[in-house]
Amino acid sequence: MIDEAALRAAIEQVTEPEIHRSLGDLGMVKELAVAGDTVRMVVALPVPGGSLTPQLESDLTTAAMAIDGVAAASVEFTAMTDEERAQLTATLKGGSDAREVTISNRTRVLTIASGKGGVGKSSVTTNLGVALAENGKTVGIIDADVWGFSIPKMLGIDRPPSVVDQMIMPPEAHGVRAISMDYFVQPDQAVIWRGPMLHKALEQFLVDAYWGDIDYLLIDMPPGTGDIAISMSQFLPRAQALLVTTPQPTAQRVAKRAALMAAKVNQEVLGVVENMSWFTGDDGKRYQIFGAGGGQQLSEELNVPLLGQVPLLPAMREGADSGIPVAIAAPESDAAAAFRDLAERVDDLKPRIRSHPELIIS
Ligand SMILES: Nc1ncnc2c1ncn2[C@@H]1O[C@H](COP(=O)(O)OP(=O)(O)OP(=O)(O)O)[C@@H](O)[C@H]1O
Ligand SMILES: [Mg+2]
Repeated sequence: MIDEAALRAAIEQVTEPEIHRSLGDLGMVKELAVAGDTVRMVVALPVPGGSLTPQLESDLTTAAMAIDGVAAASVEFTAMTDEERAQLTATLKGGSDAREVTISNRTRVLTIASGKGGVGKSSVTTNLGVALAENGKTVGIIDADVWGFSIPKMLGIDRPPSVVDQMIMPPEAHGVRAISMDYFVQPDQAVIWRGPMLHKALEQFLVDAYWGDIDYLLIDMPPGTGDIAISMSQFLPRAQALLVTTPQPTAQRVAKRAALMAAKVNQEVLGVVENMSWFTGDDGKRYQIFGAGGGQQLSEELNVPLLGQVPLLPAMREGADSGIPVAIAAPESDAAAAFRDLAERVDDLKPRIRSHPELIIS
């Protein structure tokens, strides 16, 4: 005899792979029929034909077969009706109809910024995200660099988001979901936008993307301290900033400008990450190619901790181009270890309410 209540519970607990909520929560299980030792399921999909449907089918079959007495299980997919889809969207929005930021109150929001370009903001965002995910955290990334987007490529996300009604489901790779302008522009098309349009795009990433109850939302900032930084601080006043710099004094001076910007919009600076700190040669020696001390000096000037130093590693550059984070490409490397340490330190630093009156500029 099959325990039908246990079977139903198991099926309803299966997670929808794009929305990251259970089928039960989403009202997707339409039929569950038991005949002898055979189970037949009918599941309604919000958007049929998604690339993760085979995964869902296999998860459902596995869940059914795990119940005592089940010898065979089959899944049939149908499409949700407009009404069912509207119901699902309402569930995702927590019953609210308003266009508001969907980030849960418990989600920690970190912006990864630096005044200067090319110091490794996107690399730090991606690899910190992956390291947090490896520690069991649920992580989302907003690629706020709308012109120079790079996150989907670095994470190795190779499918567009699916859209349920007006809601965008951020695709996931290596345990990290991400939203980026990359999904919405044609290859080689220039993105020429002015302030208000940027503001609108970022709003969509926050309001129309479904983030759910994630532990961390990381925001990869563009270089500089312009419109996007101001928009982000308006949308997410409780975000904390991680400043990325290199050991070089010039990078550190520019990063300080990003700190001033954070202070101006009343954002807490959580700490400093120094990237490209050294390169370990075949001889085992550390070469400080970009000098030394920039991260330490910046953290002292801002009176915040130096949270990590990430060495230069060719595998990290290659991995960024091929979508393989360093934790996977070179898990034994000192760079991968640096991100694991960084993830732990960030996780330990609970948010404090603190301003930087000494930094306020008018
Ligand atoms: N520690 C590292 N070791 C090796 N390569 C690195 C390292 N950090 C970053 N890189 C490489 O340096 C380049 C710039 O890094 P990244 O794109 O992360 O910087 P960014 O600050 O986000 O740049 P932008 O200002 O253009 O957004 C990339 O090719 C990246 O792969
Ligand atoms: Mg970048």
